[in-house]
Formats: sequence, structure tokens, C-alpha cells
Amino acid sequence: MSAAAPTVVAAGRDLFLVRVARRRDEAIDICSFELVDPAGKALPPFSAGSHIDVHTPGGYVRQYSLCNGPADAGRFAIGVLRHSDSRGGSIDMHQNVREGDLLGITGPRNNFPLVPEAQKSILLAGGIGVTPMLSMAEHLSAAGADFWLHYCTRSIERTAFRSWLSAAPYAKRVSFYFDDDPGRKVDLRALLSAPDTGTHLYVCGPTGFLEFVRSAARDLEWEEGCIHFEYFSPAPVDAAGDTDFEVEISSTGRVYRIPAGQSVTTVLARNGIEIPVSCEQGVCGTCLTRVLEGIPDHRDTYQLAEEQARNNQFTPCCSRAKTARLRLDL
Ligand code: FES
Repeated sequence: MSAAAPTVVAAGRDLFLVRVARRRDEAIDICSFELVDPAGKALPPFSAGSHIDVHTPGGYVRQYSLCNGPADAGRFAIGVLRHSDSRGGSIDMHQNVREGDLLGITGPRNNFPLVPEAQKSILLAGGIGVTPMLSMAEHLSAAGADFWLHYCTRSIERTAFRSWLSAAPYAKRVSFYFDDDPGRKVDLRALLSAPDTGTHLYVCGPTGFLEFVRSAARDLEWEEGCIHFEYFSPAPVDAAGDTDFEVEISSTGRVYRIPAGQSVTTVLARNGIEIPVSCEQGVCGTCLTRVLEGIPDHRDTYQLAEEQARNNQFTPCCSRAKTARLRLDL
């Protein structure tokens, strides 16, 4: 990739350039990339569980968790799974990003922070969901905290960062589980059998894995406030009760009806109003649009909870409305 444009604003946040200092194959279909400032300057600080938005050479915007510990300043390390059902972003990263290339990124942001008061932390990773857990484990280990990392994958060949974890000072606090090894399968119910209010559970992985853990934790009477999830893909939404609503375009006063089952971006595009989109799943923030009146029904995983609570912007690619009409700053 050649040098991209200088700093611009994307989705309301500053986009800046980083250089790919190192690229490495970590497991089948998983690469890691180490990103540094092109001029050798410091990168913005971050906390464990943070992610960055990467603007790929092909124009996709994808979120990747930072793997390195927050104390490991000067670089951002990410791991990228080449999804077989990729909409393009992960394939673009695998095929077109090489050492020395420049990439635009925004962030870091943290939708998945550790709870500082936790007496014990259980980190439960499914596949590529290990990436934020690596940063958490690094941080918790450096802080001398009580934690355990349980890492579940389909097979040892698909287990990224195994050498990192095996050589880490906290290696004894890491357990590996492989679906294809009957002797190394995870027993979630045993792992989660002793909930208590001082123990916090962090879960990241494919949606099916997250839902399985969520259901097991609920059955075992974990308190909701002690369980923390990060979805790589959109959080599951029950759309059964969706109804029509209206959006008003503030610059023209025109009003459009958004039927159940159709997105705001789709309806507006059909009427000649193009809002830039990328993921169309509420993950990347590309479509973020200001809301001047009305209350959105947020269905994105892009905004922080406190940002959603302000109700002054929403992701029209997937979010809907709690009020009969939203007036949009368009
Ligand atoms: S297009 Fe990605 S959040 Fe809407």
C-alpha cells in the first residue's frame, strides 16, 4: 500500500497513519500486525480491552482489539482472523497489507474495560476473541491481580499467540482447550460453577460462543453486572417487535417512513440521500449520524454505553427509533 492521505476526520474521529512494522502468521488463517507511528513518535495511550478502527487498503473499516499490554507503549499489536464468510475486510488485511505499509486508524477506544475493583477476573476467549484477553492478561499480571485465562479454539493449529502465552510470566494462569481433542475440551459449567460478587467474567469470541457462555452463566446465577461481553459481530437483536417510524431530514424538512425490516440507510439511499456505510452492522461507526430530535433505538456495538445514552447520534445502518420520528442532521 502506498502512503495514504494526511490526517482527516472519519466518522467524527481523527484518522491518523501508522506503519506496519511487523506482520506474522500466528495460526491457520490468523495474522498479527504490529503498528507503529511512521515518525517513531508515541502512539496514544490505551487501557486493556481497547480496540482501534483500521481503514484497510480496500476501503473497509474494521475494528481490531489491541493485544499488547497498555504498558507496552509505542506500538499497537492486533490479530486478524481471515473469515471464510468475510465481507472483505479481513481478506483485504491478509492479502494486501505488508510490512512497511501505511494504514489509517482511529482510536483507541474501550468498549470492554476491566473492572478495577474486581477481586478475581476470569478471561474466557473463543478463537480470535483471545486478542483483547491478551492485553487484559498482560495488564492484570503486571498489576499482580488474581486472574485466569481460558482459551478455547477448534484445534492447536488454529490457536494464535500460543507461544506468547506459553512463554508469558503468567503462563501458569492460562489454560488451552481444543474442540478436536476430547481430552482438552472446555467444561464451561465447571469453570463458571462458583459465581461470587468479587469475581468478574470477561468473554470474547464468536457470537455462538458468547451466547453459550451467557446462557450457562445465567443458569448458574451469575449476576449480570459481573459478566462482560465483547461482540466482534453485531450483538443479537430481537427484531420481532420492530415497527415503522419516520425520519425527518433537517436541511429539507422531508420525512421518510422506515418500515420494519428495512434500515434507515437503505430507505434514504433509495430516495437519493446517501449516508456512507461500511460494515452495515453497527460495528464500524462509518454511518454515525447526528440526531437532533427523537430517541434512537441503538443497535450498534460501536458506541460506548455513555455515548448511546446521550441519544444525540446513532448508526442508521442498523439502529431504529424509540419515538415515532427522528430528526436527523442531514
Ligand atoms: S456502516 Fe458500520 S456502523 Fe453503520
